[in-house]
Amino acid sequence: MSNSIAQSNNQIHVGWESPSNIALVKYWGKYGRQLPRNASVSFTLNTAASRTFVGLDGNNVSSQIEIDFTFEGKQNDTFTTRIEKFLSSIADEYFPFLREYKLKIDSSNSFPHSSGIASSASGMSALALCLCDIEYQLGSIQERDDAFFQKASLIARLGSGSASRSVYGTMAVWGQHPNVLASSDEYAVDIAANVHPVFRTFRNDILIISAKEKSVSSTAGHHLMEGNPFASARYTQANDRLSSLLVALANGDLATFGKITEDEALTLHALMMCSDPSYILMEEGSLSVINKIKAFRKQTNIPVYFTLDAGPNVHVLYPSEFEAQVSPFIHSELKPYCHEGKIIKDSVGPGPKKIL
Ligand code: PMV
Repeated sequence: MSNSIAQSNNQIHVGWESPSNIALVKYWGKYGRQLPRNASVSFTLNTAASRTFVGLDGNNVSSQIEIDFTFEGKQNDTFTTRIEKFLSSIADEYFPFLREYKLKIDSSNSFPHSSGIASSASGMSALALCLCDIEYQLGSIQERDDAFFQKASLIARLGSGSASRSVYGTMAVWGQHPNVLASSDEYAVDIAANVHPVFRTFRNDILIISAKEKSVSSTAGHHLMEGNPFASARYTQANDRLSSLLVALANGDLATFGKITEDEALTLHALMMCSDPSYILMEEGSLSVINKIKAFRKQTNIPVYFTLDAGPNVHVLYPSEFEAQVSPFIHSELKPYCHEGKIIKDSVGPGPKKIL
């Protein structure tokens, strides 16, 4: 490569903001190179997001990946090691430029680090989009088209399975499923067009029951599914539930949506309780708010439901038209169970944005 091309490439600097997502049918159990044991579907969130900037930062003369990584402007050794390892694992197959240039990366989250919200889905999808964008700027791909986002989803998946779904707005399915056209274990697909309008503006208020680090990581949790005696029944159940949920999502059938979503959350935690060794990630506060949400729904007939990911925090899901009734309930009845009264008000969102 001539010096002048190398120099102008060093001016390449891109940025993407990418949201977190919350699964309704959960991915829990994996095999091979980060492939899911069952298909999953999620809402893409709106405000809980990571903002990542990546720039080419001079030529890389060593054989190792070289990055200068900062999180919220500060050096962070744990993240640096994790990202270097990830980039080394994908460089030869997907991004040869990673061996030619040093990278400068800065990332930040819209939600506080200690809020108990996992940042791997938003962080890995933002990074994957930046890498694909650099490839585009270097001229190796022609357009930011469907293939661009498909590759970003695949790369995000290699970083953290659920991150594959954050590349698309509204809703995405990850994992091969007979009822989802073009679905794949390798990347997620956009199903926004098949979703009733009521779900496109759904609210998702996250009750922070605890901000502590989880006692068992998701990686360890996926691994424990390998010895779980219910594993194969679970994978069949998840794919069946996804079939029913897709119909409910298309028809705007809130009752079926709510039943499957809540059953999935409780199944996920039941699987943890019957792993060997067994473990519990819910806390007393999680159970209390779950019971309160059920009682409120029964009393008022308002379609408000809950889900949880692999932790104690509870996501409260309801159509935006009920905000005026649900907000005071959350404030008076659920907030007292939240760590320092913390609630992150979020909703279904349009997906990642290019910010540089
Ligand atoms: O992407 P991971 O490895 O952090 O696993 C995520 C697992 C759940 O959040 C519990 C479910 C899901 O599908 O997002």
